[in-house]
Amino acid sequence: MSDEKFRSQQESWKKSVDRTLERFPERKDTFKTSSDIDVERLYFPDNDNDYENKLGYPGTYPFTRGIQPTMYRSRFWTMRQYAGFGSAEETNKRFRYLLEQGQTGLSVAFDLPTQIGYDSDDVMAEGEVGKVGVAIDSLQDMEKLLDQIPLDKVSTSMTINAPASVLLCMYIAVGEKQGVPLEKLTGTIQNDILKEYIARGTYIFPPKPSMRLITNIFEYCQQNVPKFNTISISGYHIREAGSTAVQEAAFTIANGMAYVDAALESGLDIDAFAPRLAFFFNAHNNFFEEAAKFRASRRIWAKIMKEHYQAKDPKSWKMRFHTQTGGSTLTAQQPDNNIVRVTMQALAAVLGGTQSLHTNSRDEALSLPTEESARIALRTQQIIANESGVADTVDPLAGSYYVEELTDQIEKDVEAYLDRIHEIGGAVQAVEEGFMQREIQQKAYETQKNIEKEEEIIVGLNKYKLEEEVNPDLLKVDEALEQAQIQSMNTIRQQRDQKAVDYSLEAIKENAKDSNANLIPFILEAVKVYATIGEICNVLRDEFGEYTGI
Ligand code: 3HC
Repeated sequence: MSDEKFRSQQESWKKSVDRTLERFPERKDTFKTSSDIDVERLYFPDNDNDYENKLGYPGTYPFTRGIQPTMYRSRFWTMRQYAGFGSAEETNKRFRYLLEQGQTGLSVAFDLPTQIGYDSDDVMAEGEVGKVGVAIDSLQDMEKLLDQIPLDKVSTSMTINAPASVLLCMYIAVGEKQGVPLEKLTGTIQNDILKEYIARGTYIFPPKPSMRLITNIFEYCQQNVPKFNTISISGYHIREAGSTAVQEAAFTIANGMAYVDAALESGLDIDAFAPRLAFFFNAHNNFFEEAAKFRASRRIWAKIMKEHYQAKDPKSWKMRFHTQTGGSTLTAQQPDNNIVRVTMQALAAVLGGTQSLHTNSRDEALSLPTEESARIALRTQQIIANESGVADTVDPLAGSYYVEELTDQIEKDVEAYLDRIHEIGGAVQAVEEGFMQREIQQKAYETQKNIEKEEEIIVGLNKYKLEEEVNPDLLKVDEALEQAQIQSMNTIRQQRDQKAVDYSLEAIKENAKDSNANLIPFILEAVKVYATIGEICNVLRDEFGEYTGI
């Protein structure tokens, strides 16, 4: 690239910085190292022919160096700890504790019955109520979950997929009760059914009706809740199932393309919904590979959206993502060692430019985290943000021979997978044929063998073991919760206007038959009259059927 072009690129980037600083001034006037060395906003080569195409400037296509011109100099990533257990009241207490401790976003973990659309008194829910997340049966539980939490100030992520439409509507209904205008509601629903078929398993309906519900949400939010992120296209669970970093990025991006295709087929304009697509990745142990994976994924997605889909709005090209440190890397042995693992993984996510981050707690290989463990996990982020200096310049790993080579190589390998998936007929077809599942299973098997042969060392697990393991205090979910939850549901059922509930469920049933109808307004009416998640999902089960897996 000529000097002149390089200079003009630099000038336009500086203008984008000035515009950003008006809305997001930087955290400090000057940034310095511990030796009082000035820390510049950005470092780059004097002039590099590939710079413009491969790296470019933060906040500028192809966003390799980050999606914002000033990144963390203006605003740290959102510290968003995944939390939820027991009753809505208990989880609300944990939410408010974490917010008091400085977390800057909410992230709801629902119990399995909620995630699979069963009421707490359903036979399928027995023994699981409140176990791996909070039990939410009706709008009343959602009101308790969000009690004293201002939804016009806090963004909330909900890890909900098959019944995402129901929980989104409950959240909207609580926002309305708080008097928050819909256009001010911020947050994310995971709403990513393909990875549920591939790796996580909390699906209900077959692919076609599932994709319909997803695109109904895209359409409804674009028109009514414009700041809500309508999907969190997830690689996290694909990695947790045993994939490589390349497979995680490739299968996630392939799934992302399938959602874009489905939205376009439903008649939506790409620049109307694409800016609210979000992603969710894992941060595993190999530090530099993880940071390079994020940088490569951003560049790949930007090119796909701009060149393949011809999206015109630069916001449609930006891959905005949340990261969770790798749960499957945590060991039950010597749990305090996990604090070190999580620190490194969190650092890789930050150096990779994440927008939001969850750090696992040291005891999560054993149970849901205690309050103390959850606090240490949050403090890990706060120390990285405020004490390490890594947030004081943008994309500091850039220019490293290793990181740039790794970014390029990951990009090549991901694109090779995308070509293979395209030959199969796209992600939905690849899932139905079990292609991604087989690739992941093969890698998971190889990894397990390497650990058993001690070719892959896991400290405390297959090397540096202790004779005696001391088990830390663990969180216990009160067994009496299930009965209490059922009791509270029965009370709601007695108090609500049953005719209104029956009418709203009938409306969902009738409109579910019409594949062109958007079901969200009907689901919203049903939750507002306290129809339960099980009642709504059972109406949809009757209409759509249930997916029995590959
Ligand atoms: N300069 C300019 N603007 C900036 C900025 C900067 N430096 N930093 C932030 N901003 C702006 C952003 O543009 C945004 O404004 P906009 O909405 O008008 O564009 C605003 O500030 C908020 O910033 P972000 O959107 O970057 O941060 P959020 O935290 O709000 O959103 C996200 C991040 C990734 C887009 C969103 O989708 C998100 O929060 N995802 C979280 C998902 C999550 O928590 N998932 C957990 C799943 S748990 C699970 O599944 C595992 C279990 O199964 C085990």
